[in-house]
Amino acid sequence: MSRKITQCVLKEMKKNGEKIAAITSYDYLTTRLIDDVGIDLILVGDSLGMVELGYESTLPVTMEEVIHHLKAVTRAKPNAFVVGDMPFMSYQASVEDAIRNAGRFVKEGGAEGVKLEGGVRSVDAIKGIVRAAIPVVGHLGLTPQSLLQFGGYKIQGADNLSAARLIEDAKYLEDAGCCLIVIEGVPWGLAKEITETVSIPTIGIGAGKYCDGQILVIQDMLGIFEKPLPKFVKMYAQIGEGIKKAVAGYIKEVKNGKFPELKHSYSVKKRKKEKGSNEGSQDT
Ligand code: KIV
Repeated sequence: MSRKITQCVLKEMKKNGEKIAAITSYDYLTTRLIDDVGIDLILVGDSLGMVELGYESTLPVTMEEVIHHLKAVTRAKPNAFVVGDMPFMSYQASVEDAIRNAGRFVKEGGAEGVKLEGGVRSVDAIKGIVRAAIPVVGHLGLTPQSLLQFGGYKIQGADNLSAARLIEDAKYLEDAGCCLIVIEGVPWGLAKEITETVSIPTIGIGAGKYCDGQILVIQDMLGIFEKPLPKFVKMYAQIGEGIKKAVAGYIKEVKNGKFPELKHSYSVKKRKKEKGSNEGSQDT
């Protein structure tokens, strides 16, 4: 029986120098599969906007959409720590919004923690959510909800001033009560410095090997997503090609009559004529 991962277990893992393996998931079956092999943390990321719903960015994603996927994931009852990603404008306008929406993730979606983007600018929201006894994961660096402000998906913390700001932000997040920090799209040396500065675990994505753990979007690492992938993604399978090959084979066999064969079909056994009945028995 595998252990249930909580925020306390993840903090303990950092202390013991045990790396944290995290991944995104958005549905029941995938969650069953990845939990079976021992993933530590599952993020129902707002990346679902792109990989599940076909949006151009994470900006249009709504609370309802994340909750819908969160419910599917938590129905799988994973041992992994399940985090719901708070969508754009679900926590920025007021602390009250932030607490209420984080609460919805827990009450309606079954989340065990919530993630929100930003450093010092998000501290009030984080403090409010932590006061409501909900674990919070911070997110620094190339935060995709800041796409318009950044003017694209650009590496952050590349110069001394912005690097120093990100280190300060990490300290703010720890002081505000975050249990983890995702660091995205920053030079590895800076991610290492942040990891050594804070006592809570850091989870990197495009932030090098010195973070306390790593996270990838599942479609990217399985080779399902069609768009060109960023340099930090390692593809562990070519499932997209596998799907195309399988479906092309199915199409061909349906068209040429090779599928279904007799063994894929039901037949009716010889009908026994009974008095007063003209029913046969079904061979299943
Ligand atoms: O939405 C997401 O998937 C994320 C990442 C950290 C991968 O925020």
